[in-house]
Amino acid sequence: MTESITITDNRSGESYEIPVVNGGVSATDWAKILPGIWFYDPGFMSTAAAESAITYLDGTAGILRYRGYPIEQLAESSTYLEVAYLLLNGELPTESQFEQWRHDITSHTFIHENVRKRFLDGFHYDAHPMGMLVSAVAALSTFYLDAKDIFDPVSRQKQIIRLIAKMPTLAAAAHRFSVGMPFVYPDNSLDFPSNFLSMMWKVAEPRYQTDPALSRALDILFILHADHEQNCSTTAMRVVGSSHADPYSACAAACAALYGPRHGGANEAVIRMLSEIGSMENVPAFISEVKAGHGHVRLQGFGHRVYKNYDPRAQIIKKAADDVFEVTGRNPLLDVALKLEEIALSDEYFTSRRLYPNVDFYSGLIYQAMGFPLEMFPVLFAIARTAGWLAHWQEMLDQDSKIARPRQLYTGADARDYVPMTRRRA
Ligand code: CMC
Repeated sequence: MTESITITDNRSGESYEIPVVNGGVSATDWAKILPGIWFYDPGFMSTAAAESAITYLDGTAGILRYRGYPIEQLAESSTYLEVAYLLLNGELPTESQFEQWRHDITSHTFIHENVRKRFLDGFHYDAHPMGMLVSAVAALSTFYLDAKDIFDPVSRQKQIIRLIAKMPTLAAAAHRFSVGMPFVYPDNSLDFPSNFLSMMWKVAEPRYQTDPALSRALDILFILHADHEQNCSTTAMRVVGSSHADPYSACAAACAALYGPRHGGANEAVIRMLSEIGSMENVPAFISEVKAGHGHVRLQGFGHRVYKNYDPRAQIIKKAADDVFEVTGRNPLLDVALKLEEIALSDEYFTSRRLYPNVDFYSGLIYQAMGFPLEMFPVLFAIARTAGWLAHWQEMLDQDSKIARPRQLYTGADARDYVPMTRRRA
């Protein structure tokens, strides 16, 4: 039986039946009943902007699945590269498909010398690496002119491979520049996370040796961050992509959206917050400050637009943290974080608003223990999320979607006549 909703227009007495499809109602159907009346939904709180078959998220039950596969199983058994293939293609790869994919990604890790020598080297000495990444990704569109052929399947696949392959190289290059270290070229004999760690940390040794536990932990973090359905940066990717801009430009917009502290910048904010709190004794006072601040002072790494339960990614990260700390030593801020979580989860302010730890609450502690500077945290997020952005971009183009162009409710001045400057009053 098809589900539907019947609405009666009290002005005319007419009734309309609107079908409920995949848990939603078409705004176009409503618009027929309400011509000239717009749906006011700032922040898209009640709006589904797309149909998507990529990621399933049930925020109340704390469920996250990529293409139907539970995030817990992927984090346990898969790799980031395999997950990227899954997100983009809908199915897990066979052995030969994966080998081809791995080969394609690995053979596109190098960046044009001009990107590094002329473009990245031109930044100010203290440039934030995320700002550098946003700009460098946008600049790539000027190096690959075929990127504009977004409906040519060969070109599209080439740009997807380039973006996934080059993000770690750009990210590491941004870091090396910001600490005044020479650029390290990709080592294509290494796997995806190990190659990135080599580009980050290699000094004078002929070959950088990664600790397998750290490579694996980073790969798990990449898997957990690979997609999260219609989040702010993915929406930015889709909105810019809907104008048929090339994927580098759209991806740069997505990176820019991720830069903000409410999104990808949150794990950086968590560490700053934990460092400011300093020790476990100061936790109750900080919690009181958050509560008194009524939303102005926030418990960073807590709360989520969609999760009204423990973020399943935070559970996995908490476990992965132990493996990392075994190698690196325990991050002293972990105790502050655990205390904060314990108090918040038993406090009415947080429970009544259903504020639980999100993915960023513990990821920063791992990144910090692994030696990543705070400024690199959103950059690490961007490397991982590139697969999700591209999967959504591709899905949107295949749906032949309209250009994103919302309406507004105008609240400004009525028509008035221009006043010459000499006759204006302050
Ligand atoms: N600390 C204290 N109070 C909070 C917090 C928080 N972290 N988050 C929400 N609230 C309160 C907020 O003040 C409001 O209270 P009231 O109803 O009294 O006005 C209520 O909870 C609802 O908050 P909201 O801002 O309307 O919720 P939202 O869905 O618009 O915001 C959020 C979601 C993630 C932006 C927000 O929870 C937040 O700012 N969290 C801290 C930053 C953070 O950890 N961001 C990472 C998100 S996960 C990774 C990602 O997706 O990038």
